[in-house]
Amino acid sequence: MSTTAPRHDVKDLALAPAGVTRITWADGEMPVLAAIRERFEREQPLDGVRIAACLHVTTETANLARTLHAGGADVVLCASNPLSTQDDVAAALVEEYGISVYAIRGEDNDTYYSHIEAAVDHRPQLTMDDGADVIGVLHKDRRDQLGEILGGTEETTTGVIRLRALEAQGELAFPIIAVNEASTKHLFDNRYGTGQSTVDGIIRATNVLLAGRRFVVAGYGWTGRGVALRARGMGAHVIVTEVDPVRALEALMDGYEVMPIERAAEVGDVFCTATGDKNVISRAAIERLKDGAILSNTGHFNVEIEIDALRELAVSTREARPEVEEFELADGRRVYLIGEGRLVNLAAAEGHPAAVMDMSFANQALSAEYVVAHAEELEPRVYVVPEEIDREIARLKLESMGVEIDSLTEEQARYLASWDEGT
Ligand SMILES: NC(=O)c1ccc[n+]([C@@H]2O[C@H](COP(=O)([O-])OP(=O)(O)OC[C@H]3O[C@@H](n4cnc5c(N)ncnc54)[C@H](O)[C@@H]3O)[C@@H](O)[C@H]2O)c1
Repeated sequence: MSTTAPRHDVKDLALAPAGVTRITWADGEMPVLAAIRERFEREQPLDGVRIAACLHVTTETANLARTLHAGGADVVLCASNPLSTQDDVAAALVEEYGISVYAIRGEDNDTYYSHIEAAVDHRPQLTMDDGADVIGVLHKDRRDQLGEILGGTEETTTGVIRLRALEAQGELAFPIIAVNEASTKHLFDNRYGTGQSTVDGIIRATNVLLAGRRFVVAGYGWTGRGVALRARGMGAHVIVTEVDPVRALEALMDGYEVMPIERAAEVGDVFCTATGDKNVISRAAIERLKDGAILSNTGHFNVEIEIDALRELAVSTREARPEVEEFELADGRRVYLIGEGRLVNLAAAEGHPAAVMDMSFANQALSAEYVVAHAEELEPRVYVVPEEIDREIARLKLESMGVEIDSLTEEQARYLASWDEGT
């Protein structure tokens, strides 16, 4: 474990006590990660391994960083989004837990990238990304460091898509575990975590009543399904837009209205993009919006709403509420954008509840351990999380919730494995 003083660029170290209180609260909701931390402390599977983690700097991430640190790793953390950093958490990590952090909420683009560079200066042997930023810098500008890296992990859908593209071009230089692909990650984090926290962000930012409103969800993947489900639970009339016919059909049969975005633009009150795609709410859609329409995004990058077009169409802008910008259009219509079109659940709320990040970050911690233990055999490819890790996390989570399940009898196992028994 590193004994040198943590390096940092955070807003204010005096915020540390508040951060510690909140990190401790989140820890109480993260029993699976806590169990891993206890084992890591004993077994030191990451002894001396330098890790650069580029993740949302939240209370849950703090507990992951503590777990890696307990396992012997020398961790540096930077933000994976300029608006998602919780400054008290960043301060607490440095002051209380001895972890190097480069992250300030609201940092400009240059500072954001200089913080990623600072993390890469740490000469990581393991990378941990949420959106492939560290891996991007290493492959573009720091190729001399590629040989030092054992492997990495990737948290989100958008990052995995980018890394698969890098792999397809034959350019990926080291093995990656796609944490997002674990069932105990995307089935819960993307769906229930994003569902709850996205609706929470929209409500905290605007305090609008969702009941009776037309709520448009763009994209019916794991996140879109969660957002639609929770918006409907609040009484909204949910409309889904999609480009994939299977997903569109699924949304229809789940009971939602399905239509193209330009038609949805004319009737929607609240919009949330959840696609990982760009210009989903395009200029053409913006031109059709009703007066008072509220726009938000929960996909990884702030490219899903064509914000440049919104700025061009506006005759004036003002801050309507914290994290809500009002755009007045030439004909007097007003459009509201939450959190600059960045991940609304992190910009305007606190991100996913800790109980769901418990599983996502258990996957991160165990995948880090796996990469270090299997570095010799792994090729420069994108791997899924080993099934035994996925199932073990589900088992531990159920156990922590006091839920017991059945197991197959020998007879049942034999029956399910045979093609002719009992016919
Ligand atoms: N806010 C969060 O905390 C959070 C959590 C997890 C994932 N994410 C991000 O959310 C995004 C979506 O992730 P996912 O796991 O749901 O992905 P997914 O691949 O399961 O779903 C995306 C869906 O969007 C659809 N789509 C693509 N382009 C579209 C368009 N122009 N119009 C309508 N639909 C379109 C696709 O057909 C697909 O069904 C990614 O950027 C991911 O990184 C955010």
